[in-house]
Amino acid sequence: QTNLTSERFIERIHSLLHCFYFYSSLLQDFWKNMLKFKWLLRADGPKCARFYSAKVGRILKNSKVASSMHINELKSIDQSQQPIIECRDKKYLAGSTSKNFPKTLPIYLHNEFKAIELSNQHNNILDIGANLRPILDDIFNHENKSAVLIKNLPITKTDHFHDFMKGCDYQPMTYESGSAYRASVNDLVYSASDEPPEFSIEPHNEMSYLSQFPQKIIFCCLSKASFGGESPIVFNRDLIKQLDSNIFDKFRTKGIRYSRNLKHQNNTNYITWQNTFFTDNKKEAENKMENQGFEWKWKSNGDVTIWYQLPAFFTQPHSGEEIWFNQATANHCTYYKSHPMFEGKEDLPPSEYPYHCCYGDGEEIEDDVIDHIRSVMWRNAMSLALFPGDVLILDNLLCQHSRIGYEGGERKVVVFLGEPINR
Ligand SMILES: [Fe+2]
Repeated sequence: QTNLTSERFIERIHSLLHCFYFYSSLLQDFWKNMLKFKWLLRADGPKCARFYSAKVGRILKNSKVASSMHINELKSIDQSQQPIIECRDKKYLAGSTSKNFPKTLPIYLHNEFKAIELSNQHNNILDIGANLRPILDDIFNHENKSAVLIKNLPITKTDHFHDFMKGCDYQPMTYESGSAYRASVNDLVYSASDEPPEFSIEPHNEMSYLSQFPQKIIFCCLSKASFGGESPIVFNRDLIKQLDSNIFDKFRTKGIRYSRNLKHQNNTNYITWQNTFFTDNKKEAENKMENQGFEWKWKSNGDVTIWYQLPAFFTQPHSGEEIWFNQATANHCTYYKSHPMFEGKEDLPPSEYPYHCCYGDGEEIEDDVIDHIRSVMWRNAMSLALFPGDVLILDNLLCQHSRIGYEGGERKVVVFLGEPINR
């Protein structure tokens, strides 16, 4: 009897220990997941609630309609639609005179890129966006793609793209404090760029020079240039592998100091502080600069000089992956030395161009480092021409975009910035 009782007692202890082990590992898993999603915890309560209610709403909405949407994967893109892009010594293309610059851009399909088209006809553009969203989430989150091209959508004007984005239901963000020269088209959509057509825009991650930036950037081609105007893309993981690792230590330790020389709207017909901060009220602009962590100094002619420091890398909140994420080249004064509006003004001091950047301690980034970064970016660019009705969705943390200068035709590409995230 005594032996039986003690055996039972030991069994009980075993099962209690087992339960304890089981629940503590569950708790551990739960805690790990909470840490993974700590970026969400940073958000305030209503923002969190909105995030989850939008997610649940989308799942319910899509469960009703997803069955009607089918897509085809395009294993190749018609090569005749991808012209050879000559870039060595190209005028108005920063760094193109370097011997390290590629002569032409490679034409290939990167393994982080996927092209799809709808397999059946759909007319309601809002529904197309809503139906495509779970498919896109799956491609980005489970197939680990960083760029998705959707061919031949029935989008012929900005309003259609606006409805498509409404259907997709990505959280929009504004372009406030952005550095590019672009105009707002409506509440969700901007023109991709209003830079002079002949200027080639070098690869960059959108707003990577700010503390808040979009996780998704979505372009839509409404009309095409007669010559040029392609939108090559560059995958950041290639850059981490191919940039000289010796340059990383300095960027990692010092970070990058960005500076801007923003003109008053009376002093230029290019970038102004009024169109950067969406206000012509100085006090409001100052509040916005303060929120961004900028330091600034007003000039007597109404212009303003801004400076601030940010890391050159960004760590992915979900995976912990370190990404090369900055605008060391596209915000460097040498970029503007290749700009048509600064032709003949190549000898200005760096602070006189709209933007400049250096290492965080004020040391200038070496010319050969700038040349190396530019050459590696362009050598790894995937040539990509967009056609009317094409929508290109990029993971802005992992994929850079660019534009080749163009001539003729009415090139019209519009853009949506979505899913803001903070450093
Ligand atoms: Fe951009």
